[in-house]
Order: sequence, then C-alpha cells, then structure tokens
Amino acid sequence: MEINLSMPSSLLDFQDVSKIFVDSKFRKIQSLENINFSAHQGEFIVIIGPSGCGKSTILRLAAGLDKPTSGKVLYHGKPIQEPDRQRGLVFQSYSVFPWLTVRENIAFGLNKSNSRSNEEKLSQWLSFTGLNEFADAYPKTLSGGMRQRVALARTMIVEPELLLLDEPFGALDEPTRKSMQALLLKAIAGSGCSVLLVTHDISEALILADRIILMSSLPGRILDIFIPPLNDSRTRDHFITPDFKSLYDEILERFPVQVIGE
Ligand SMILES: Nc1ncnc2c1ncn2[C@@H]1O[C@H](COP(=O)(O)OP(=O)(O)OP(=O)(O)O)[C@@H](O)[C@H]1O
Ligand SMILES: [Mg+2]
Repeated sequence: MEINLSMPSSLLDFQDVSKIFVDSKFRKIQSLENINFSAHQGEFIVIIGPSGCGKSTILRLAAGLDKPTSGKVLYHGKPIQEPDRQRGLVFQSYSVFPWLTVRENIAFGLNKSNSRSNEEKLSQWLSFTGLNEFADAYPKTLSGGMRQRVALARTMIVEPELLLLDEPFGALDEPTRKSMQALLLKAIAGSGCSVLLVTHDISEALILADRIILMSSLPGRILDIFIPPLNDSRTRDHFITPDFKSLYDEILERFPVQVIGE
C-alpha cells in the first residue's frame, strides 16, 4: 500500500522533481534528482548542502523563475507557472535596486492603490529594520548588512505567504549575521509566513529551522531530513546544550565532502 506523506495543508509541494540544465558546451547537467518535500504554513525549512548541489535551483523553481524538467512543483496544490508576490525571493547576492533609494526599494512591490496604508507600512518597515535615517540613501552608500535589511523589508512589506531566502546572510560577518537571524525571526513571528532558506552554515540552520533538509552533491538529492530540538527562543546560546551539539555533529558527519579541482 502506498502511503501519502504530504499533508493536505501544504503550501508548497515538490513531487519527484528533477531539473536538467544544458550548459554553454551543450552538456547536460542534472542539477536535481527526485526531490520530494512539502512546506506547510508557518513552517521554517532550511536547505543545506555542498556548493553547486542545486539549492538555488530549488528556490528558483519555488519562485516560478524556472520549470522542472520532470515532476511537479505545486503551490496550494497547483503547478507554479510564474513568479508571484506571494512568494518573495531574496537572492544570494544583495538583491536591492541600486538606482532606487532605500525608501523606494522597500516600497517597490506595494500596490499603489492605497497610498495611506502604504505610507504606514513603509514607515513601520523602515523603523523595524533600523533604516529610518537612511530612507533617502542609495544602496551603494550602505553596508552589506544594511542592504540585506532593505532586501528583507522589501520582500516582507507585501506580506508574502512564502519567503524564499538564498543565503541571505552569507556575505555578512558573524555578529551582523547573528543580528540578521534575530531580525528575520522577529519579522516572521506571528505572520504565518513559511520560509525556505538556503545556507552553508549548519549553526544557522539549527538556529532557524523547524526542519533541515540536507542535500547530496550533484545531482542534488535529499540525503536526510533533521528536526532540531524544540527551540522556542532560538538563540545561539542553545549550542551549549548537548542536544544541539550532538545534532550539529551528526549533520557535519553526514555533510558531503566536496573535492574541488583535480
Ligand atoms: N542556468 C543554468 N544553466 C546551466 N547550468 C546551471 C544553470 N543554473 C544552475 N546550473 C548548474 O546546476 C547546478 C546547481 O546549481 P545551483 O546554483 O542550484 O547550486 P547551489 O547549490 O545553489 O550552489 P552554491 O552553494 O554554490 O550557491 C550547478 O552545477 C550549476 O552549474
Ligand atoms: Mg546557490
């Protein structure tokens, strides 16, 4: 008897998804192979795995920027056809528009019809991300952490159902990354927003995730799924507890070793 493990309330479903790219020399590159998972409302899923294993490909498929070669990517049970504001994507590198000010960047996706509520939302997000004083500045004058705060505010201001974050804090130093993780958790708290976040950082995965998906090297397959211990306040202090330390070690042990070069 076949058991259906995907719960009916799932927001996003990957069903037997494979993705093959053809590179500039017409070689086939299988980026993903038989990916199966579901994300439920309010769930925080973190994807980790070695470089080039198809993590960004998963996010691009979920965003609707790419289509699977085989299998299905479903959103509310329907195949994803194109990008949608309900599925906000923050890219691996700083995804702000350099020609717009901080205020204009954050307001970018807002529906222009209700300007009063837009002004309120804008001022809330400027304060929430600590960017009030920089509202009229252009991104080139901001630090990396500030730019990622702009990108987060721009994505969250439209109240997405699903937040897709591709190594959003990867380029930041450790203390800034730590504050950004806390800011992200604060931003989504109580919003019901689901998150699919890609990182290389096992500690980051343990702090943020309800569920951690570990990928294999290319072609990307799901190697394992880990559920961190209940983690209400989610802070780095949890790493002194034996539960977290042993899960960290277990994931590290399973993490595929990558050979780079000849
Ligand atoms: N548009 C494309 N054309 C050809 N090959 C591609 C394309 N996009 C991705 N690939 C290939 O698919 C594989 C997976 O790429 P992807 O960017 O998803 O990896 P990743 O896990 O996000 O890597 P990283 O951790 O370095 O960001 C890589 O081998 C990459 O070269
Ligand atoms: Mg990537």
